Amino acid sequence: MVVPESQEKMYYPPEDLKRDAHVPDFNSYLALYRKSLENPEAFWKEIADEFFWKKPATGPLLQYNFDVTKGNIYVKCMEGAKTNMCYNVLDRLVKEKNFGEKVAYYWEGNSPDHHMAITYSQLLSQVCRCANVLKKMGVKKGDRVSIYLPMIPELVYTMLACARIGAVHSIVFAGFSSESLCERIIDASSSVLVTADGVYRGEKLINLKQIADEALEKCREKGSSSVTKCLVIKHPALRTKSGAACNKLQTPWDSDCDVWWDEAMGDSPEECEPEWLDAEDPLFILYTSGSTGKPKGILHTVAGYLLYTSLTFKYVFDHHHDDVYWCTADIGWITGHSYITYGPLANGATSVLFEGIPVHPHVGRFWEIIEKYKVTKFYTAPTAIRLLMKYGREPLQKYDLSSLRILGTVGEPINPEAWQWYHEVVGQGRCPVVDTFWQTETGGHVLTPLPAATPLKPGSATFPFFGVEPAILNEHGEELEGEAEGYLVFRRPWPGIMRSVYRNHERFENTYFKKFPGFYVTGDGCKRDKDGYYWITGRIDDMLNVSGHLMSTAEVEAALTEHPAVAEAAVVSRPHAVKGECLYCFVTLKHSREFNHTLQDELKRLVREKIGPIATPDFIQNAPALPKTRSGKIMRRILRKIARNEKDLGDLSTLADPKVVEELFSQRCEAA
Ligand code: WT7
Repeated sequence: MVVPESQEKMYYPPEDLKRDAHVPDFNSYLALYRKSLENPEAFWKEIADEFFWKKPATGPLLQYNFDVTKGNIYVKCMEGAKTNMCYNVLDRLVKEKNFGEKVAYYWEGNSPDHHMAITYSQLLSQVCRCANVLKKMGVKKGDRVSIYLPMIPELVYTMLACARIGAVHSIVFAGFSSESLCERIIDASSSVLVTADGVYRGEKLINLKQIADEALEKCREKGSSSVTKCLVIKHPALRTKSGAACNKLQTPWDSDCDVWWDEAMGDSPEECEPEWLDAEDPLFILYTSGSTGKPKGILHTVAGYLLYTSLTFKYVFDHHHDDVYWCTADIGWITGHSYITYGPLANGATSVLFEGIPVHPHVGRFWEIIEKYKVTKFYTAPTAIRLLMKYGREPLQKYDLSSLRILGTVGEPINPEAWQWYHEVVGQGRCPVVDTFWQTETGGHVLTPLPAATPLKPGSATFPFFGVEPAILNEHGEELEGEAEGYLVFRRPWPGIMRSVYRNHERFENTYFKKFPGFYVTGDGCKRDKDGYYWITGRIDDMLNVSGHLMSTAEVEAALTEHPAVAEAAVVSRPHAVKGECLYCFVTLKHSREFNHTLQDELKRLVREKIGPIATPDFIQNAPALPKTRSGKIMRRILRKIARNEKDLGDLSTLADPKVVEELFSQRCEAA
């Protein structure tokens, strides 16, 4: 490959960024990329040398089998080494690098009145105290701790406290329902749950503790009561000025199980020796939707995840000591794990930790925060960009955004219009946009531009990161060369890839490695253009991507069919101007049940309760019958066309009853 040149409009890295960049041009990228594939041992050894190892690795840096026909799938990084994640991201910086006084996080609450700065040494002492609290609750190495918290500093304290004592954190996004939380607690069999009394999201006050209690109650109903202690944080917005709790919420309390954070932390010591773990010991579980409905507990381990998140952060955001970095994701998703907590801290970065939403208390909140903290690197999702685009340029013009140097996006393909707006209006034409493609499973970026090296094409995630070897396969598993479109797969592991599905290695192998032996299958479609650029075309399995959040058709269908009036349900996606995709549901009712607005509302509420607000259907259509093959399989391909009002239905020869399709077309929903 040579430096790309193209007929299309390309965006070249700005000269001032190149001057002190880690990877200053495309040829340097190519040289490093080649080294990472030809000599992975030497490549990753250099990265590993920046971190602290209580005991060095004994075996080769990366060992693996990616071929199911040759035995079990496994990946191991730095076998034999002993280390600790928390030591590496905190103690190492405070003790060896003198970063104690450097700000780790500027916390900015839902309300602009709530904010604080946390230095590296303050972070270390809070984490140690929390680690001692967890130990006192009986948490030991290998035990699971479920965390159900909003974006407050205590979320970071708790996850790092787990990492320090070798406990495995399982963070559940605080927008998930009690049912979803319950399912994740049972699967992980956590012994401790950490939550907060409540949280404001915009204007709305949410009683988090009540949802957490409902989840624990549901666990007990299902015969599982692994959780023995619930640690409860008083949200800063729910305290009076003097620190006492104020009475806006009724916080349900069980004095056998529940412990207030303040009381537990009060006399907890600030010293806590880290637990020295094996390189391949688990670091965390994070649940992601699976196409059969039940979420999968994606398992990441210590050493490989440390190397990979730290290196991707450093290169993709071209990190420098005086940067102020802001990723707007929630730590409840992988983006937050890798690029709010571990990656930035491993680099000693200063980050903004934002609890709120883009439009509260006004639609310029993002821009106000960028000006306030002089943010240099900004990372958000296409759905947020499309939302803010609607308000035009005016809200941005009130603020000084000249500190910005690099912009990033993640979560779904970005449409060229949103890319242009991000580049021109937010970045004022001077900031490269890094479109980072990755997954919960990949641990970190796998296809991504490097800001000072890669010429950009709007909508393309461009090229593979170091150590990553992509391929495009056709339906028969044949590799396609040059310009091509097909399944995106990876031929070998990189240090940060998941190691298993928690307590279900078989599902791990079946989901990701069975279809094309020898490859990790992402589930995404992908196109490679004549210049070698990769373009993600979207999911090719039964998954939906709403506002950058993945969910499976099966889990939404399972929620709908729990309603006593519903006989059968089928869910497909339909394009949505802000969310990217939204849910369009077809329901077949039981005999004698009537389809009306009340039922539609009940169904929407049911899905919200079962999964969470992000899964709320936009459209529900009555389907007297669903289009099926003669063997009874629902033809979603046709339902997708109906939802989008596309009449070119293609081959209908396998359809059992063509009349069904006409009828569904005549009754389709136009507007939500
Ligand atoms: C799926 C993974 C990785 C953090 C957020 C989502 C889609 C993600 C991009 C991108 C096109 C993207 C893919 C992927 N996706 N980033 N830059 N361009 N598509 O994590 O919930 O595990 O979802 O998100 O479809 O498979 P996740």
